[in-house]
Amino acid sequence: PFEVVCRASGKRLRVPADKSVLQVLREAGLRVESSCRDGVCGTCELRVLAGTPDHRDSVLTAEERAEGTHMMVCVSRAVGDVLELDI
Ligand code: FES
Repeated sequence: PFEVVCRASGKRLRVPADKSVLQVLREAGLRVESSCRDGVCGTCELRVLAGTPDHRDSVLTAEERAEGTHMMVCVSRAVGDVLELDI
């Protein structure tokens, strides 16, 4: 598990192992666009403000992964304990 801090909405949410970041954001009432929910379309991309994403999508290039400034919240997770997102 890890935590997601939502800077724009002021929410702090726990992401358990059996849920995606997308699911947790939606359950908290935040609106995130999504389509494939499988890391291939790019619709659910959010900006990462702090923390390191554990990229599990097939959208971002190697350079974009290394930058760590964006992530696909339907599949990607966190390397550490906290991710801060622009939502
Ligand atoms: Fe398609 Fe996340 S919904 S990449």
